[in-house]
This record gives sequence, C-alpha cells and structure tokens, in this order.
Amino acid sequence: MNRFLTASALALTMGAFAPAVVPAAALAQEQTVEVLHWWTAGSEAAAVGVLKDDLAKKGVAWQDMPVAGGGGEAANTALKARVAAGNPPTAAQLLGMTVREWAGEGLLGDLTAEAETQGWGDVLPTAIKDFAVEDGKWVAVPVNIHRPNWLWVNAKIFKDNGLTPPKTWEEFNTVADALKAKGITPLAHGGQPWQDTTVFDDVVLGVGGPDFYRKAIIELDEESLTSDTMVKVFDQMRRIRGYVDPGFSGRDWNLATGMLIRGEAAMQLMGDWAKGELVKANVTPGEEILCLTAPGTEGAFLFNTDFFAMFDVGDAQKAAQASFAESVMAKDFQESFNLVKGSIPARTDVSGDKFDACGKKSMADIKAAEGAKTLMGSLAHGHAQPAAIQRAIFDVVTQHFNSEMSSQDAVKALLASVQAAQ
Ligand code: GAL
Repeated sequence: MNRFLTASALALTMGAFAPAVVPAAALAQEQTVEVLHWWTAGSEAAAVGVLKDDLAKKGVAWQDMPVAGGGGEAANTALKARVAAGNPPTAAQLLGMTVREWAGEGLLGDLTAEAETQGWGDVLPTAIKDFAVEDGKWVAVPVNIHRPNWLWVNAKIFKDNGLTPPKTWEEFNTVADALKAKGITPLAHGGQPWQDTTVFDDVVLGVGGPDFYRKAIIELDEESLTSDTMVKVFDQMRRIRGYVDPGFSGRDWNLATGMLIRGEAAMQLMGDWAKGELVKANVTPGEEILCLTAPGTEGAFLFNTDFFAMFDVGDAQKAAQASFAESVMAKDFQESFNLVKGSIPARTDVSGDKFDACGKKSMADIKAAEGAKTLMGSLAHGHAQPAAIQRAIFDVVTQHFNSEMSSQDAVKALLASVQAAQ
C-alpha cells in the first residue's frame, strides 16, 4: 500500500537497518501520516500529490492508503474494517454525512484548539462548518467544495452539428435526440449506483426545482417522494437511459470524461472533479469543454465537500495530525490544491483570480445560492442523507435505470426503500 511513499520516508524506513546516527534530513521526516482516501483517478492522484508535497515541507511523510471507487463507498467500507480491527488510519477522507456518523461513534479526534488559534470558523460557509463541527467540537477539516450539478459539453461536437447547449431538460432531450440521430452518443456515463444517482440528483433538482429537492431528498417528505413530479423525474431518467452508449455499465467516471474529451460522446452530467481531468489533459474548461449548470438547475447549488478527519492512533501521532489539519486549512494550499482538483476552496477568503471560467462561476454561484437559500447537500455525494438511506435510494435509482421498471413503480419502490432504511 506504500506505493506513494516519499523518497525521504523510504530513506527513513531503511534507516531502521542503518547505524544509530540518523542524518538531519531523515530526522525532519520523523512523522508519518497514513491517509485513507479514494482519489485514484489521474487528477485526483495529482491533487493528493499537492497535499503530500505540502506535508513533506513540514517534515510529515505520507503513507498512502488508496481505495479505488468514485464517491467513496468502497473507501468507507475499508475504513470500517480498519476501525473494527482496531487499526484505524491516521486520517481519512470523508464526506459530510460520514463525518457525522464517525463523530457520533466518538471516534474522531478533536481539532478545536487548532480551529480556534487559526480562526477556521470565520472563513467557512455555514453549510460546510455544520458538517465539520459536532457538539461544538471541530472533528474534521474541509479541503474543497465540489458542485455535482454540472453539465459538461464538448463544444466542437455542438458547433459542428449546429446545436445549442441545453438549459432545460426539454432542450436536453431535443439535442440528445438530434445527436443520436447522427450516430453520436449524447451522454458519457458510467453505470455505477453513485453515478446514476449523481444524474438523479440533477433531474430531481432540474425537474422539481430547489424546494422540491429540499422536500423530497433532504426532508424525505412522503408526498413529494410519491408525487407526480417524482414520476416525471423517473420519466426523464428513462429518457436519459436511451442516451448512453451500450458499454456504459460499470464504467468509471473518469473514463466517461475521457470519452467526452475525445469526442466519443457529446455531454457528461458529473461533478467538477471532471474538471480536474480536463485540466490534467490540458483541455481548457469553459472553452473546449463547456461547463453549464445541469439542465433546469441554474440558481441552485448542490455541494459536496471532502473532509479529512483524524482517528485516535495514540498521542505520538497528535502533532502530525495537527500539522495535517493545518496544511489542509491553509489559504495558499486551498488555492493550489483546488486548481488541480477541479473544486473551489472551502475557505471563502481565497481569491478566484487563478481559477478558470468554470471555477469562477462556481465561486459566484455558491454565494448567490447561499443568499437565495438554494445551496443544498448532494445526496449522491454524502451531504443529504445518512449512508443507509442514501444506499436505499441508490438501489432504486439503479434498478430503475437498468430495467424496464415503470416510473410509477419506481416511485412506489422509492418510498418503500426509504421507509425500510429509516
Ligand atoms: C466525490 C468526491 C470527489 C471525487 C468524486 C469521484 O464523492 O467528493 O472528490 O473524488 O467523488 O471520485
């Protein structure tokens, strides 16, 4: 698992077999953090590199514990196994709802002292801070803000075919039908439950509007879950099923982004970690690949934040954990990390100057959405419901997407599944 061990950390490990005199350079690398995360796509690994390098400057070596699987479900399962075996990692990547779940178990370290000295509370949006603080105690540090409700558009395909990027689901269906008629795959998609539900989040928000999303997805209001609007949501999901290529099943999200970049598909509905892949491939976001808010969702902002939380691995690790948290929360670091990751900084005091057009739009849109009360947590990305309910919704969305299930039956299954998980 140590495939990303830094050269100096390796030197330190080897030092165990060397004479007792330890060189000064090795001493500076005395601390090691083992970090469990799911950042294994090219751009994600590059973002990990930014964090790893920052820590190396502080004399903290990085021991990598990557668990592949977008959205982090597999990583959370691996984390549970490590904790159950009494061997938690030093730090783990978590999404908001899992921060709450682990904090509820009393397993997360207290970062309140660092938060107070460094004034974290003054520079984070309330919606993000709410997930980082549990019972008045800082239990996690937010490294970014991702926006899942984006539509990525291959500008050349649209131009060559005289099409205008869609702003509503109706327009989306019209352009998708036109593309399909020309033999072009309208939508790059990976058939994995979290990706299906990333699309579902967009459709619920775009078809029903922000109040409907809040009622159905965040409040689990029974009437909304079984409403005609939810039937329309599943009708739209069925339309979308007709716009993906035959090879969609099980495909990783970054491979779908690759299809979009190469012009093998015209659009992708995906969070802005896809922008990280564009940057990595030297493609200019907002020019070659356009970023539009997902159809019908302009004015609303779904969010997910990657947090790092510290587990109790003994007092000897506390200083390394404090350095780790401090790195994540540093202003300069949040700028350089998020330029690579595709997200925007969690800190509100980082300038947008170095960010591309899509990043700038995200920064402006989140402020507007905060004011309009249309900033809401993403279900697919762990900020709307606890894992059990999220999973229950994933199951229905994916089952519907991969079968002939009617929209009416899907709505019934949705309610039953949510109720069983509550
Ligand atoms: C999200 C996570 C992002 C990105 C994505 C795909 O849940 O917040 O940072 O990694 O999964 O793996």
